[in-house]
Amino acid sequence: AVFKEAYAEQFYVGTALNLVQIWERNPAASKVVEEHFNSIVAENCMKSMFIQPREGEFYFKDADQFVAYGEKHHMHIVGHTLIWHSQAPRWFFSDKEGNDVSREVLIERMRSHIHTVVSRYKGRVHGWDVVNEAILDNGEYRKSKFYEIIGEDFIPLAFQFAHEADPDAELYYNDYSTSIPAKREGIVRLAKKLQDAGVKIDGLGMQEHHGLTHASLEETEKTINDFADLGVKVMVTEMDISVLPNARRHRGAELTDTAAYAKSLDPYKESLPEDKMKKLGERYVDFFKLYVKYQDKISRVTLWGVGDADSWKNDWPIEGRTDYPLLFDRNYEPKPFFEDLIDLT
Ligand code: XIL
Repeated sequence: AVFKEAYAEQFYVGTALNLVQIWERNPAASKVVEEHFNSIVAENCMKSMFIQPREGEFYFKDADQFVAYGEKHHMHIVGHTLIWHSQAPRWFFSDKEGNDVSREVLIERMRSHIHTVVSRYKGRVHGWDVVNEAILDNGEYRKSKFYEIIGEDFIPLAFQFAHEADPDAELYYNDYSTSIPAKREGIVRLAKKLQDAGVKIDGLGMQEHHGLTHASLEETEKTINDFADLGVKVMVTEMDISVLPNARRHRGAELTDTAAYAKSLDPYKESLPEDKMKKLGERYVDFFKLYVKYQDKISRVTLWGVGDADSWKNDWPIEGRTDYPLLFDRNYEPKPFFEDLIDLT
């Protein structure tokens, strides 16, 4: 069964693409991408540290390939991401002495960055994650360099610059843990503010990086509804479900038994136990049931990677673990529950 055909009437089904992992070295992965997905998003190559590593020096090779690949396969192409506090080069915020630049200079750098990147792919990238992760879990603005130097205006400005560069591109705000009530409310407040100011915003992205236990379906449902009530598209932008314990909890653990400690960080190194695979499948089915229920509100569901070996979750928040967060395994075979997802529509 083919994923994108099963969901053809519901929403785009997408995957993040990482150039090196996908088509240059990995024909098995590209085969899956081309067979099952009708949307792609750039996992890394469009982030500011890669696309403008030094001021005024743009590196477009990878992003060009990414867009050309999507066009070749008639995919819905999403650019990720224009303004984000993370994976941004240090020069963006500093002068030659290493001090923070002025508000005017940072706004000018944002304008130049956004105009250059968005206009290069005008009419080819269909939607942009314009601003990523600007709201904290408590609903307040993240105290990023953008916020500290410019103030909350950096967000409407980013949307305005993107709109100037490609008036037809869809423009999104994207964030994680959007089912946390305070955060959801913060994002709704932000979107309303943009709308009241006449700033074009077309969609709100729920990243949906999950684990086997956290994030409630009821709260996720509320988020879908509250976002859709704003009259924007709702999209699942970076879905994966980690099976590993949260490594942050182990930090500072006393190392009396290093083997046990290593195992606790990478418990399923050899293979994923059957009961965990079952749980993973149930979790995916639960979320997809919800997405199908709200198919009129949800325009796209994107997985953050193709096969388990490529997932960032193997290296986050600590390096070198063996995670199983995606729909396809390390051999690019669909997991046992794949057919259950197909059967939902
Ligand atoms: C991750 C990539 O998957 C990794 O390869 C990279 O090292 C770090 O960033 N939220 C986002 C994504 O919006 O851009 C992040 O992607 C995952 C969390």
